[in-house]
Amino acid sequence: EPVHKEINTADWDVDAAEKGGYEHFMLKEIHEQPAAVRDTVSPRIINGMPDLSQDGVDMQKLKDYRQIFIVACGTAMHAGMVGKYVIEKLARKPVIVDIASEFRYRDPIITKDDLMIVISQSGETADTMAVLRLAKEVGAATLAVVNVVGSSIAREADMVIYTHAGPEISVASTKAYMVQISVMYLLAFELAYANGTMELTAQLGQMPDIIRETLELKDTCSFVASKLVNAESLLYIGRGLDYALSMEGSLKLKEISYIHSESYAAGELKHGTISLITEGMPVIAVATQKKLIEKTVSNIREVKARGAMVILICDNSIEVGEGVADYIIRLPQTDEQLMPMAAAAPLQLIAYYTSVLKGNDVDKPRNLAKSVTVE
Ligand code: AGP
Repeated sequence: EPVHKEINTADWDVDAAEKGGYEHFMLKEIHEQPAAVRDTVSPRIINGMPDLSQDGVDMQKLKDYRQIFIVACGTAMHAGMVGKYVIEKLARKPVIVDIASEFRYRDPIITKDDLMIVISQSGETADTMAVLRLAKEVGAATLAVVNVVGSSIAREADMVIYTHAGPEISVASTKAYMVQISVMYLLAFELAYANGTMELTAQLGQMPDIIRETLELKDTCSFVASKLVNAESLLYIGRGLDYALSMEGSLKLKEISYIHSESYAAGELKHGTISLITEGMPVIAVATQKKLIEKTVSNIREVKARGAMVILICDNSIEVGEGVADYIIRLPQTDEQLMPMAAAAPLQLIAYYTSVLKGNDVDKPRNLAKSVTVE
């Protein structure tokens, strides 16, 4: 019997699969982020408003769901964490974020009145796929944020928002993360439109330029990497959105440098983790959220007093007292809701240069695969 196949066309060109003069795919992909964000965001801002209708997303329906779930694995889950913070803050909708391999086995309370958002670069991750099917079984609406056109997750979800990062070859995800968080912002800004997110939408449209500026910090990041390369272990700390971003910074560093690292909500340190701090231990503190800055600085002082070497990542308007940090990376200014997009590339570059200095196989770190199609 003749079989009719649906044809999906990916507009990826051959150049996208070559290193184009960069030493590694990861470095090339970090530099492709301004273009990836532009391609993902610009077509979805219409007359100054976020507009996902062309992706088949009915915003009115989205607003009516009882509960939003965002489920994914690894870096994609970290993008979901950013989504949770911004959707809850701006749209005042409750969002539960979970790791796919946990969610699917914990008998989750999800109903037909809920919306399941799954995020996946490859669109083939086994646990994320299983969660999508589980959500469909109970009748929940499903929305996939996917990079690979025609992938299994994209085909099975009710709605798909494609990110336009082009092929990501390096195992360590960089540009895919950046566009995933861009989509989280588009969703949050559209959901919260009535609460006045027009300026934020305009600022989101400017983010490719801001990201480009942050790429100029590469020498500073390479210098910071030289201070980390001999560490056995380090911590990333932050609060709020900075904590969400720290999770990604920490994962990036450990997966390609093989240095043990943890991300911690800064306020949790004194509940146990601060006992790990010894003389010279690096602590990377991300502090971009104005309301929380004093609190984070006081946590930084606590680790500094115990001998930590502190690398502070903050925006260039924040004043920090003498001696608070050993090294400071100053980010260009943007609205604080969007600061994860400004801080992501420096964190990726720190991980990248640390891996290079250690002589590791940056694009193919040991024990890892680009697409995790087994459980
Ligand atoms: C991140 O650098 C990793 N490659 C990994 O955590 C990845 O994000 C995860 O396996 C999910 O993959 P997916 O986005 O293709 O579903």
